[in-house]
Amino acid sequence: MDILVIGSGGREHALCWALQKEQAHQIFCAPGNAGIAEIARCVPLNATDVRALADFAEQEKIALAVVGGEAPLAAGVADEFAARSLAIAGPTKDAARLESSKVFAKAFMVRHGIPTARFRVADSVSEARKILQSGEFRETISGEAGVVIKADGLAGGKGVTVARTRAEAEAAIGRLMEDGEKPGTAGGRVVIEEALAGPEASLLIFTDGRDYQLMPAARDHKRVGEHDTGPNTGGMGAITAPEVLDKEMAKRVVREIVEPTLEGARREGFPFRGILYFGLMLTSEGPCLLEYNVRFGDPEAQAILLRFDGDLAEVFDGVAHKNLAGKSVRWSNDASACIVLAARGYPNEVETGAHIEGLEQARQTSGVQIFHSGTSRTREGIWMTAAGRVLGVAAAHPKLEGALQCCYQAIDHIRWEGMHYRHDIGQFA
Ligand code: AMP
Ligand code: GLY
Repeated sequence: MDILVIGSGGREHALCWALQKEQAHQIFCAPGNAGIAEIARCVPLNATDVRALADFAEQEKIALAVVGGEAPLAAGVADEFAARSLAIAGPTKDAARLESSKVFAKAFMVRHGIPTARFRVADSVSEARKILQSGEFRETISGEAGVVIKADGLAGGKGVTVARTRAEAEAAIGRLMEDGEKPGTAGGRVVIEEALAGPEASLLIFTDGRDYQLMPAARDHKRVGEHDTGPNTGGMGAITAPEVLDKEMAKRVVREIVEPTLEGARREGFPFRGILYFGLMLTSEGPCLLEYNVRFGDPEAQAILLRFDGDLAEVFDGVAHKNLAGKSVRWSNDASACIVLAARGYPNEVETGAHIEGLEQARQTSGVQIFHSGTSRTREGIWMTAAGRVLGVAAAHPKLEGALQCCYQAIDHIRWEGMHYRHDIGQFA
């Protein structure tokens, strides 16, 4: 099969790797990155230029397209491909609203009785301030004070503030609604919701709109600093392990959250086809849904896909052609981890162009896979940093400690000026 993967990060590197691991499919990646170029043919097309992507798929007779991130989906890449009868594993623009609008997602959850944090929507700064002043969100389920401010639109993982004081909440509203900190958010809407407490877990599924298959539950590490300190990032590491979500809780999540979501999307006329990511908080009262993502997480994908057993292209083909029920989805019995190595300054202003040393030695560490998130390569073959998140070092092992040990052993070989990473990935388990 000729397969087109859309995107350019570590998640897309893992997708390309997993797609050609079992069967020698021909993989194209648009636009890809220097690491991906070692295993796929990179095509210099912008991931959100949906027409150019569909033109390319037509010209090259691509059998199947797989979408990495949310931006192409929100731009309508699945609609464009469908209109031209090109196969694509990814939700339509309508279905992608589950991620591209927090207001839409929260209202959808309420319509379908899906447990989520109590919330209100504010359309203006004055309305937002009024909601804060009303004191409505001072008491939370856990009894701990807190309120969460969320930008309505896509914000690259940076649109959420968990505020512990009124001043923090006011500042977040100012940043989002007045200063327009993120493009498109100025003057926009915000969701204000109660802060919940509990361990977080991410459950992802493949679905063709009717049938679905669960993936191993994962846990992201969003804060930049050790022991969950500092600002939120796109993700500094992820693990999969039985401790993330036990069998009983997983059953509840499926019954109370996964199935009502798929059913609700069908009833509302946008059957969800693709990968759906449920961001959960396991509160003392049961599982609550914090958010949907309409795609794999990054770096969750790297940790999850290491455990995939079989021909991943067949599964995506089932998603695209609505016959997932006939496909075999198997996972190794391991735990797994992916640890992100970031450039100086990430998640704020990032320094790029540093010379990466030791990558070849690190690669030889037994059991380790290294996925590139943001690298470039000089003509002489020297690896350079090219983005905030640079590399993801991943391993699977029967025990989580074993997987983590492999990752950290490999990381010991890698260095560049300003490299930083978390030493405590998976320690909660
Ligand atoms: P989201 O983009 O909605 O996943 O939010 C990013 C992160 O903010 C989540 O992974 C949680 O750590 C945190 N968060 C979001 N909503 C809440 C909430 N209602 N209570 C506590 N933490 C939250
Ligand atoms: N790691 C979180 C995300 O991809 O949204």
